Amino acid sequence: MRKNAFGPKGWLPSRIENLTGQTFVITGTTSGTGFEAAKILLSKGAQVVMLNRNPTKAAGVITTLKDELGPDINIVSIQMDLSEQASVKKAVEKVMQKVTRIDALLCNAAIAQVPQRKLTIDGWESQMGVNYFGHFTLQALLFPLIEKSNGRIVTVSSMGYNMGIKAIKFDDLNWEKDYTPNNAYSQSKLAQIMSIYELQNRLSKAGKTNVKAYACHPGSSRTSLITTSGSLLMRFIFGLMKLSPLTQPAENGAYPQLMCATEKDLDQKEFYGPTGRGHFVGPVGAHEIKPHAKDKDASKKLWVISEQATGIKWNI
Ligand SMILES: NC(=O)c1ccc[n+]([C@@H]2O[C@H](COP(=O)([O-])OP(=O)(O)OC[C@H]3O[C@@H](n4cnc5c(N)ncnc54)[C@H](OP(=O)(O)O)[C@@H]3O)[C@@H](O)[C@H]2O)c1
Repeated sequence: MRKNAFGPKGWLPSRIENLTGQTFVITGTTSGTGFEAAKILLSKGAQVVMLNRNPTKAAGVITTLKDELGPDINIVSIQMDLSEQASVKKAVEKVMQKVTRIDALLCNAAIAQVPQRKLTIDGWESQMGVNYFGHFTLQALLFPLIEKSNGRIVTVSSMGYNMGIKAIKFDDLNWEKDYTPNNAYSQSKLAQIMSIYELQNRLSKAGKTNVKAYACHPGSSRTSLITTSGSLLMRFIFGLMKLSPLTQPAENGAYPQLMCATEKDLDQKEFYGPTGRGHFVGPVGAHEIKPHAKDKDASKKLWVISEQATGIKWNI
């Protein structure tokens, strides 16, 4: 096993310095790793902009966080549904009105293991639409402010990138044939990783090295992910898994994205997550990523298709 650069316990949030004056935008903070990440960032003095689809749940989160951290936390809540490009665009306008800088955008929200093939309002398979295309547009539209702030883009992916189709189904991106919940989730998570490494290439070619892009995953964390979008069978299986030592609290699942959002001098070429058994649990650090996730031709092709599909051109 590789030596962990942060010692045997791996990266921990105690490494985060005071974040007063810094702004973090994060998707999906109503539960799971997003909630825990937002809480830790706020506890360090940061301004946190939460982008959630459900305003009632978001209001409840603000109450909970104020109860836990005090009434003076610097929190902004904006409604955004990643399954609707129009909603993402509207949310971006509001973010631009509310903040003057973005130190890191944490692309955390997702749905997983959706039992039946569904299409988003924009016509994409739901997991690809929410997890990948929603975040692609969000990143592209916030990029100018992230660039101005010398900020970062952090994608929260999954080891699922390597537990399904292990390729982008370019001839049938929308799963008109052979839909399976796992393959469609896996493709969306692979696409998220590929676009980060492609973004790095594009930034580097354009000499825009002041912006950093990172790919990470939370291991196997006890969150609401499968309860929200998975089938009854998947909920049962994941319910059992939650009892095993191969899962960890949601807070630990938040550490990789927090590390990527705040740690200085982190190598962008790496993939970050738990380094213990199966990369499900254990000390957080860099670990191997399979070559298919760094396939340059496929990543370039995906980027071009994504700009065409969303109608959004990155200003790089
Ligand atoms: N938990 C794990 O073991 C695991 C493993 C691998 C990867 N991951 C990744 O970790 C990340 C966080 O997931 P989690 O485990 O913390 O799950 P979670 O508890 O279900 O949190 C997911 C968050 O995403 C939000 N969301 C879902 N669809 C959305 C949409 N259309 N627009 C905006 N927000 C939306 C949810 O909002 P609502 O409350 O409205 O549903 C919720 O806030 C995801 O990217 C997931 O793929 C998790």
